[in-house]
Amino acid sequence: MLLMEAGDLQLTASGSRTEQLFHAIRHKIVSQLWPLNGKLPSTRQLAQELNMSRNTVIAAYEQLVAEGYIESRQGSGFYVAVALPEQFVPDVVIKDVQTKAMKEPHLQRAFRPGVGDFEAFPYRLWQSMLQRHSSRRILMGSHDPQGLPELRHALSDYLASSRSVSCDPSRIIITSGAQQALALALLATLSSGDDIMMEQPGYTQMRAIINTLGYRIKPVPVRPISGLDLDHVLKQQARALYLTPSNQYPMGTTLNTEQRLALIQWAQTNKSWIIEDDYDSEFQFAHRPYTSMQGLAAKIGLDQHLLYVGSFSKILFNGLRLGYLVVPSKLVDKCVMLKNVLTGDTPAHSQAALADFMMEGHLLRHIRKMRRHYQTKRELMVEALHRYLGDKVDIISQAAGLHITLRWQTGITEQQWVEAAQKEQLMIRAMSYYDEANFATRGWHGVVLGFGNAPLEKIDEDIRRLAKAFVG
Ligand SMILES: Cc1ncc(COP(=O)(O)O)c(C=O)c1O
Repeated sequence: MLLMEAGDLQLTASGSRTEQLFHAIRHKIVSQLWPLNGKLPSTRQLAQELNMSRNTVIAAYEQLVAEGYIESRQGSGFYVAVALPEQFVPDVVIKDVQTKAMKEPHLQRAFRPGVGDFEAFPYRLWQSMLQRHSSRRILMGSHDPQGLPELRHALSDYLASSRSVSCDPSRIIITSGAQQALALALLATLSSGDDIMMEQPGYTQMRAIINTLGYRIKPVPVRPISGLDLDHVLKQQARALYLTPSNQYPMGTTLNTEQRLALIQWAQTNKSWIIEDDYDSEFQFAHRPYTSMQGLAAKIGLDQHLLYVGSFSKILFNGLRLGYLVVPSKLVDKCVMLKNVLTGDTPAHSQAALADFMMEGHLLRHIRKMRRHYQTKRELMVEALHRYLGDKVDIISQAAGLHITLRWQTGITEQQWVEAAQKEQLMIRAMSYYDEANFATRGWHGVVLGFGNAPLEKIDEDIRRLAKAFVG
């Protein structure tokens, strides 16, 4: 039997005598200077050696036993415990609580696409909604992975009135952002190796999901101003078609009713799925938005091939991570099963707060306010672009959403402009970011500028700086 010696046991300077002894012995054990099964000095012996009361030593030993560092063997004494807690629960020292993402200020830089105006968010109101639900015990347990019924009801009313989406609450699945809704839509409809047509250029995140899940992308060209190459789709077959029909991302084009109907018919004929991503349709500035494809298909009884995806990221804020998927009744069980397998239920407090926010009319008021606000920002941005860049670039995107897409032919490359903008602390996206690799090259350069988070009073000056960086 290995006997441990008090030896050079160093008491720490702070804390009570018991705590000092506890930490000194713990240090010996954790650094394995006192090995497993080593016998500790008796409490009487240690008290004598360290010139402290026996009660102090007993208290320290009891604490060490309670935390699993040592064990008491009846009639024999105290031993270093077999199971070293630190082997399983290492001391984690969080040196710097700032994560990499928090340190990256450019995440919120002016002109970053896809970010709303957080300054205009009704914080107080939102806080009161959250607070109202924060102590509800019922919300603390697990919930239906499909989403809270009250939120699905509120959403069903909202989608029916604003986008003519045909869905009773039983067909809605609340997801962690549109991102998860898109993944669920793919998993519920496709098998490994299936092909899916997707807009080119298109939403990069969707491309990443499709590739990661092992499906094959068939790119469909989207042209400046005229938009999706409809004939290209109609001539082909694929298990699914992914579209952003109300505000094509990133080209900012839209499909009219006739084009939407042609695609719905194509899906019916080919028994293909359509995944409609309606991520920012609330913000249409020039005309009333077209009815959603899902709503249009439902009117003619053809919505059994349509999956509709939406998000609260643009109308509220990205960090809320709430989105939704509306599916034909026959896909509900499969989607809920997949949602359950992937992440289980969605945080209940945010869902409950959002349901109230919608039912009490705050969401519609907020959207109306933000529509005017974003329209003003867009107009200022367009004026400034004309002022500082003249006819060097064309605006090719419609007056909608939270971004403006620019095109030009010669001079500076899109990558060079992105880098020059970065030096000005501005963030713009090269069109190539949205391109399918190996797809035929465009004959023009393009960038996408978000105006959602650009401070109103700085738009003119920021565009002036951006234009200076454009040495075309
Ligand atoms: C085309 C498109 N779909 C969906 C989303 C929304 O994604 P999420 O709800 O996951 O934030 C975005 C966000 O930028 C988008 O650009």
